[in-house]
Amino acid sequence: MKTVTPVALLHMCLCVTAAVSGSGSTETALTAEKGDVAILPCYTLGNVTPTLTSWIKNGKEVVKGSIYSPSPSLGGQRLAVLHDGSLNIRAVLPRDEGTYLCSSTLPGNNIFHARVLLQVTNGPENVSLSIGPATALTNGTLIVYRDSTVSFNCSGSSYPSQQLTWAFRGAGSSNQSLASAPGPWLDFRIQNVQPSAQGVYSCKANNTVSLQAANKSTELLVYYAPDRHPECVWVLAQDPSHVLFNCTWFGAYPAPKLLWGEDQGDQAAGWKGHVYKSEVTESLSVVLNRSMLEDGQTLRCVAHHQAIAAGKQKSCSFNLKYPYPKGEPMATALEGSSITLTCTEDVSIPPANTTWRKGLLQEDIVPGSKYVLTEEGAVLKLTIHNISKDDEGVYFCRSENPLAVRELEVYLTVKNSSAYTGGVIGFFIAALIVGIAAIVAKTIYSSRHRICLGDGFGRMEEAQGDVLSLVESDDEQIFQDCCSPAASDNQRTRNNARPDTSNPVQ
Ligand SMILES: *[C@@H]1O[C@H](CO)[C@@H](O)[C@H](O)[C@H]1NC(C)=O
Ligand SMILES: *[C@@H]1O[C@H](CO)[C@@H](O)[C@H](O)[C@H]1NC(C)=O
Ligand SMILES: *[C@@H]1O[C@H](CO)[C@@H](O)[C@H](O)[C@H]1NC(C)=O
Ligand SMILES: *[C@@H]1O[C@H](CO)[C@@H](O)[C@H](O)[C@H]1NC(C)=O
Ligand SMILES: *[C@@H]1O[C@H](CO)[C@@H](O)[C@H](O)[C@H]1NC(C)=O
Ligand SMILES: *[C@@H]1O[C@H](CO)[C@@H](O)[C@H](O)[C@H]1NC(C)=O
Ligand SMILES: *[C@@H]1O[C@H](CO)[C@@H](O)[C@H](O)[C@H]1NC(C)=O
Ligand SMILES: *[C@@H]1O[C@H](CO)[C@@H](O)[C@H](O)[C@H]1NC(C)=O
Ligand SMILES: *[C@@H]1O[C@H](CO)[C@@H](O)[C@H](O)[C@H]1NC(C)=O
Ligand SMILES: *[C@@H]1O[C@H](CO)[C@@H](O)[C@H](O)[C@H]1NC(C)=O
Repeated sequence: MKTVTPVALLHMCLCVTAAVSGSGSTETALTAEKGDVAILPCYTLGNVTPTLTSWIKNGKEVVKGSIYSPSPSLGGQRLAVLHDGSLNIRAVLPRDEGTYLCSSTLPGNNIFHARVLLQVTNGPENVSLSIGPATALTNGTLIVYRDSTVSFNCSGSSYPSQQLTWAFRGAGSSNQSLASAPGPWLDFRIQNVQPSAQGVYSCKANNTVSLQAANKSTELLVYYAPDRHPECVWVLAQDPSHVLFNCTWFGAYPAPKLLWGEDQGDQAAGWKGHVYKSEVTESLSVVLNRSMLEDGQTLRCVAHHQAIAAGKQKSCSFNLKYPYPKGEPMATALEGSSITLTCTEDVSIPPANTTWRKGLLQEDIVPGSKYVLTEEGAVLKLTIHNISKDDEGVYFCRSENPLAVRELEVYLTVKNSSAYTGGVIGFFIAALIVGIAAIVAKTIYSSRHRICLGDGFGRMEEAQGDVLSLVESDDEQIFQDCCSPAASDNQRTRNNARPDTSNPVQ
């Protein structure tokens, strides 16, 4: 009800003015920033100085001043009437906002009225942005992890109102507007955030009346690591007692920290072993020599990265094994024939260099028409052609890896071919004699009702059994001599490494 009165009053005054003086009235809209000085003009139409001016706000006189006493003095009060009748407001406050009326008495006793609308603005201030969940680096840059959901919220305060705008500038894009709306805060979220979302996020608050703007920005990094484990490889060096282990783990951002070390104790309880090398890199290699390597040792490369979920180790490893060449320790060949010696090396980690050597001095075997070397996977075969007595002796299947050298010793016996022929002929003659004897015995037996020999019959049965078993064992003997050495389980390997079939752990 109170507000009605000044409006009515104003209306009345204007009518009175128009009626009394005939001079004009003005209406002015002013905007002032909080804290600024605002000057509200009154009589602006002419060049005369009013003798008396009073300012009314909300029906109440706030200040009055005459040409003789520009009162009150500018020093003490926030509000003052200037010499020309203007209202001076020092350090504007939001409560100064409103409609002001002025009445100036011009020379000739004319009264002039003017209306001034004062709009006070403030801000934007306290513009702040929050991005989360994120980890802050010391320089204020924020880190989020790929595939997480990230919330962005920007707030600020402006009087009377503001427009908020989120903008993004990334490696692949110039700044683009992401969202814009009026209000005290503006939020949005990114689901399954990807590396392309890495960049600078800025929020701008723009006062819709004063058009003043303020902004805040933050750099956002998107970290990620691959799901797979690092890859461990070995590279055999020129010197067989050295080996290079190389570990690579590409696809992590930023670069991971790789570490080469040796497993010790309980891995579940964390890393306890000896560390050979550790570096921030995508690819780390170490060269180790025989004095640092042993059978059964596990060398592991572990990747460290912020984006690896807690409790999930990313690593690869090798379980080192001595070489262990296997094969038959005895071989027999006939003069003039060929023989193939076989050696299998399938346990060595890293893989061994396996070679055939000849004689106690372990001379290298030069492949040619005499010696043919063939490799079928883990099996290394040595074929010796045109065997002579000189070929008899010891052969070595030598297997060397960076850990150790191990040898399989094979003894080759060379048999004279004429002795063999004689043996065959001898066998046939013996078989013939036995056969005839058997027929004779059988004839005698079937005619026993006619020829009675008494005890002689029993002896005949025994003899027959002996003959048959003799033939069987001879047969076996020949087979062993010409085709393969006697079946023997004991390895004559100069080797005390335990064969182990386990594979490298990956
Ligand atoms: C802005 O922040 C300052 C200090 O943090 C505080 O005193 C002031 O009240 C804030 N202004 C607004 C409009 O929230
Ligand atoms: C903050 O530090 C990170 C990592 O050290 C760097 O990549 C980034 O550029 C830095 N940001 C600023 C704004 O200096
Ligand atoms: C955004 O921030 C403002 C000010 O801190 C807060 O009032 C508002 O609730 C926030 N909005 C969301 C969605 O978190
Ligand atoms: C883009 O950046 C330029 C200069 O940095 C700025 O003037 C402009 O307002 C920005 N655009 C958006 C949408 O923020
Ligand atoms: C604020 O917004 C207005 C209108 O939306 C625009 O004309 C003005 O350029 C903006 N000011 C700034 C500093 O961005
Ligand atoms: C953001 O504010 C800074 C001052 O704080 C100003 O120099 C810059 O131009 C502003 N940027 C935008 C896009 O408004
Ligand atoms: C390790 O492997 C990576 C990737 O294959 C390669 O770029 C790097 O040269 C290797 N390092 C050594 C010392 O061989
Ligand atoms: C093996 O490496 C260690 C450490 O690098 C070194 O002290 C040692 O002399 C090396 N041994 C051989 C045989 O190279
Ligand atoms: C294996 O060792 C022999 C010498 O014993 C050498 O000549 C050959 O180059 C080695 N092979 C490999 C693959 O290292
Ligand atoms: C077989 O070896 C003998 C000597 O040991 C040699 O005289 C003969 O020429 C060789 N035969 C073939 C076909 O190589």
